[in-house]
Amino acid sequence: ARKIILDCDPGHDDAIAMLLAHGNPGIELVAVTTVVGNQTLEKVTRNALSVARIAGITGVPFAAGCPRPLVRKIETAPDIHGETGLDGPDLPEPAFELDRRHAVDLIIDTVMAHEPGEITIVPTAGLTNIALAVRKEPRIAERVREVVLMGGGYHEGNWSAVAEFNIKIDPEAAHIVFNEKWPLTMVGLDLTHQALATPEVEAKIAAVGTKPATFVLELLDFFREAYRENQGFEFPPVHDPCAVAYVIDPDVMTVRKAPVDIELTGGLTLGMTVADFRAPAPADCTTQVAVKLDHERFWNLVVDALERIGDV
Ligand code: BDR
Ligand code: CA
Repeated sequence: ARKIILDCDPGHDDAIAMLLAHGNPGIELVAVTTVVGNQTLEKVTRNALSVARIAGITGVPFAAGCPRPLVRKIETAPDIHGETGLDGPDLPEPAFELDRRHAVDLIIDTVMAHEPGEITIVPTAGLTNIALAVRKEPRIAERVREVVLMGGGYHEGNWSAVAEFNIKIDPEAAHIVFNEKWPLTMVGLDLTHQALATPEVEAKIAAVGTKPATFVLELLDFFREAYRENQGFEFPPVHDPCAVAYVIDPDVMTVRKAPVDIELTGGLTLGMTVADFRAPAPADCTTQVAVKLDHERFWNLVVDALERIGDV
């Protein structure tokens, strides 16, 4: 199985990403780390532990990371994720304690304790923890297999006309992560805006009939209304599990190699992921962007994971 570190800010779609990673037999979750983003660090960390209980995740270290971005002021997303960061379902009390380490140290320790090429980092939030980890221990840049992140968008924005939330809230951290030598796949809005939870998708999830499946439906109920009111979507785009799905099955989407860098100074374009499509990409290009989703294949992975998780 592919070993991943999930760095997240649950977050409705982060919660579904956790369920997919836990339920899919091709993935082994080796650590879950949290970072300020959709809500405060305290809230998203508690949410992560509650989701672990719902999913039946045990024996995996969870650690809290950075409480604010590197340079910018904290920006959360209560309009999309509510005051708790995971509004909608009732959340159970956590069933286990956090790892005592800071997320940055858990990430470094985990990567260095494994063979080169064994660990994939899957960030589904701002990149603060990942940037600090690679600054603190630069050797992780050649040791990880790849970074597959949800964030950015080469033609779409959601936190400004041209920038996506995870990148915009900590553009300096994103700049560090995108300019490292590890192979990086950007699963951005161009892709995730295709991952809509349509009524057909919800019906398949409902047919699973378990508590974790009901939890997902409750998440989607809140997410649907939030996206309708705030972003003009009929059905909600479920971003974060797309990054996990790419690790499970690269054929779930098409990707294109292209240099990508992060805008740090633009007055209108702060946090834009600028992709250079003047083909062909140079031989030393380490970045690729996700383009087209196989919608059915993606949602079948999510449904399959829920079936395997069963009733917890
Ligand atoms: C990203 O921002 C967060 O609100 C979601 O969890 C996702 O990671 C989408 O722009
Ligand atoms: Ca997220």
